[in-house]
Amino acid sequence: MTDNQTMSNGLFISFEGIDGAGKSTHIEGLTETFQQQGRRVTLTREPGGTPLAETLRGLVLNQAMDPLTEALLIFAARRDHLQQVIEPALARGDVVLCDRFTDATFAYQGGGRGFDLQVLQQLEQWVQLQDGKVRQPDLTLWFALDPAIAAQRLAGARVPDRFESQPLAFFEQVHAGYAARAEQAPHRFITIDASQTRHQVWQQLTRALIQRGKLSIVVPIPKAFQSPAP
Ligand code: TYD
Repeated sequence: MTDNQTMSNGLFISFEGIDGAGKSTHIEGLTETFQQQGRRVTLTREPGGTPLAETLRGLVLNQAMDPLTEALLIFAARRDHLQQVIEPALARGDVVLCDRFTDATFAYQGGGRGFDLQVLQQLEQWVQLQDGKVRQPDLTLWFALDPAIAAQRLAGARVPDRFESQPLAFFEQVHAGYAARAEQAPHRFITIDASQTRHQVWQQLTRALIQRGKLSIVVPIPKAFQSPAP
C-alpha cells in the first residue's frame, strides 16, 4: 500500500483482552502515533461510544440480567455506535481505534457466560451489515495474558464491575473465547504477549503495525507512558 492510499482509507483497529491485560496506555500511545503520522483518529469504546450506547453500557456493567438480555443490549449499543460513529469516521478516512468490539462479545458472553455462539453469530450478521458485508475491524490487537496474572494486576485497583468481579475460571473461559476467535480470523488478529513489560508490549504492537504497512512513524515512548506503569 502506498502512503497516499494509507492516508485516504479509513482504518478500523479494535483492542481486545481480558480485564487487567493493559490495553489503555497503548490505545493512548497509538492515538498519539497515528496523529503524528498526520491521521485523524476517532478514539472510542464498546459497549459505548454514543450517548445511547453509554447508557446501555451503564446497565450492562452494573445491573443483573439474563444472558440473552445482556447480549441484546450489547448488540443494540453496537448498532448505534456503528451507525453514529464508526461508519461515518471510516467513510471520512479516519483511523478508528476502538477499545473492544464484537470479539469481546464472543469471549465474554460466549466464552465466559457460555451463551449460544450461533445466536451471537446471527446478531453479528444483522447488526454489522454494511453495504452487503459484515463490518469487522481491519485489525484486532489481542492483548493475550494468563488470567491469573491479570487478576494479580487488577487486585485492589478499583471497585470491580459485573465482569471484573467474576472468578478466575470465568476469565479462563473468556481467554479461550478470544483464542477461538483469533483462530477463526488469523488475517485480522495480531496476538500480543501482554505479560511483557509495557515498553516491550509497545514494541510488539508497533512492529506488527509497521509490518502491515499501517504505521510509518513510531513514537518511541508516547506521552501516555509518562504515568507510572499499572
Ligand atoms: P472495559 O472495556 O474493560 O472498560 P474499563 O477499562 O472501563 O473497565 O470494560 C468493559 C467490560 O465489558 C469488560 O469487562 C468486558 C465487558 N464486555 C462484554 O462483556 N461484552 C462485550 O461485547 C464488550 C464490548 C465488553
